[in-house]
Amino acid sequence: MPRKVIIDCDPGIDCGVALCMALFEPELDVVAITAVEGVVSAERASRNVQTLVEHLDPPRYPRIGAASPLETAPAVDYRQDYGEDGLGNLGLAFAELHHRRPSEKIICDEIRAAPEGVTLITLGPLTNVAHAFQRDPDLVDVVNRVIIMGGSVNGIGNITAAAEFNMFYDPQSAQTVLRSPITMTVIPLDVTRKVPITLELVEQLPDETTRAGAILNKLITFLFRYFRQKHGLESIFLHDVVALAAAVHPELFQMTEMACDVETRGELTMGATVFDRRPNRIERANTEVAVDVDAAAVRDYIIRALHRAGECTA
Ligand code: RIB
Repeated sequence: MPRKVIIDCDPGIDCGVALCMALFEPELDVVAITAVEGVVSAERASRNVQTLVEHLDPPRYPRIGAASPLETAPAVDYRQDYGEDGLGNLGLAFAELHHRRPSEKIICDEIRAAPEGVTLITLGPLTNVAHAFQRDPDLVDVVNRVIIMGGSVNGIGNITAAAEFNMFYDPQSAQTVLRSPITMTVIPLDVTRKVPITLELVEQLPDETTRAGAILNKLITFLFRYFRQKHGLESIFLHDVVALAAAVHPELFQMTEMACDVETRGELTMGATVFDRRPNRIERANTEVAVDVDAAAVRDYIIRALHRAGECTA
């Protein structure tokens, strides 16, 4: 029986690749995709979700949530990393957003509508999740699990020396979620960085004549070009794709129970995640954290999932 999931994301390229996989993954029933502001603006994230879903045209259309602008957002400009449209200048005809519904409302409605439980997979900042919990406080007792791409156990950030982007962009919301009583799984940079994607993947992407292949080839080649130009690397990281792999195949990941929190102030440390591993820690372990991964098996899964997306969109 496919597992009901909501994917909350800020498409961006690696999120776009994750959506291509998730929408054709037989283990998942993607009941909703909710946009959140992050590497792209709220408006752009909402349009990108709508555009990707319309162009992929999955057998079962998910409900789509529109992101709301974040008043206290830090100034970041990811156009160099992800292109003007956030999707590697994909150039797809942007879909008009019909009947905009706020992401946080879609999250509340879909979790309430599924008594057997919904898993929430977050691939961007935790703004929508925190707002959903504030809108419907009892939701924490109903949601099955929240799988979060974010944080860094070893303290090595990406957007700053100490912080991972999803936690940095809205640390107050991240703290609301991490301090909630829900069952959580965190997939931090420590693990997503263990699955570098090399050029061999490009040769195994679905053909560009398929709807998914046309999108994936542009997304991934753009990212390879960016990583080579900016970092001098011949491989890329697809953080959201690894987090999605953890949702479908948790057996490929080594998990450890830890207490986790996030810094919401600090000139140098805002957004830094703190994982309490002391044996006599006071706070209960509020989450399981991925600390290792079978990288080869995850890469194999990624290739299989992308092939399946191509077959389903031929
Ligand atoms: O730090 C990596 C995260 O930031 C990924 O989720 C990516 O999509 C961006 O949101």
